[in-house]
Amino acid sequence: MKKPNIYSPHLEIAKKYWENFLNKRDIAIDATTGNGHDSLFLATILSKLGRLYCIDIQKKAIDSTTILLKKKLTKKEFQNISIIHTSHEDLQKIVEDEVNLIVYNLGYLPTSDKKIITKAKSTINSIKSALAILAKKAAISIMSYVGHAEGEKEYIAIRDFLKTLDRKQYSVICHTWLNREKAPIFFWIEKI
Ligand SMILES: C[S@@+](CC[C@H](N)C(=O)[O-])C[C@H]1O[C@@H](n2cnc3c(N)ncnc32)[C@H](O)[C@@H]1O
Repeated sequence: MKKPNIYSPHLEIAKKYWENFLNKRDIAIDATTGNGHDSLFLATILSKLGRLYCIDIQKKAIDSTTILLKKKLTKKEFQNISIIHTSHEDLQKIVEDEVNLIVYNLGYLPTSDKKIITKAKSTINSIKSALAILAKKAAISIMSYVGHAEGEKEYIAIRDFLKTLDRKQYSVICHTWLNREKAPIFFWIEKI
């Protein structure tokens, strides 16, 4: 299947990491599935061999993701995807598998209610839960937006939490754009 063609420089960086890291038979979670664009990209990497969980707290997001994935994927590819309407706070209860990649694209849906937004406390709970279900070869990808007050608070909480991770167990990388004001910040946490 042809990859979707939506260009955002920060998301392109994240996608390069996902493509380099994920194998076809891996298990991945999109912890903020939104309109399903990131999920679709992950699904094309996994093809019909891997497994993908798509999670969102918003019913509208669940519906949009279902419509997009059904439209763009084959029946066989769609069969290996679970789309779950819930908060990503307790991933351990939602997903029983050990997971290779967990993806967060934080903030709010641009075309939707901006009050439904990821928040520092629940995001940190979710990241802690994500760390507990990682497979031996695994990573967490986080795109954090600092252009609004809630996002700035969330970014600081994530950054401070990630600094506490044991460097013998995890490699923690942080990317940003030095010539873009309030540019999104990308974290990549990889198990060593
Ligand atoms: C920037 S959007 C995600 C964009 C999406 N990945 C895409 O490709 O369209 C952020 C999403 O996080 C969701 N969200 C907010 N709080 C959440 C939570 N506690 N658990 C799961 N999803 C949440 C929002 O409903 C929103 O759809």
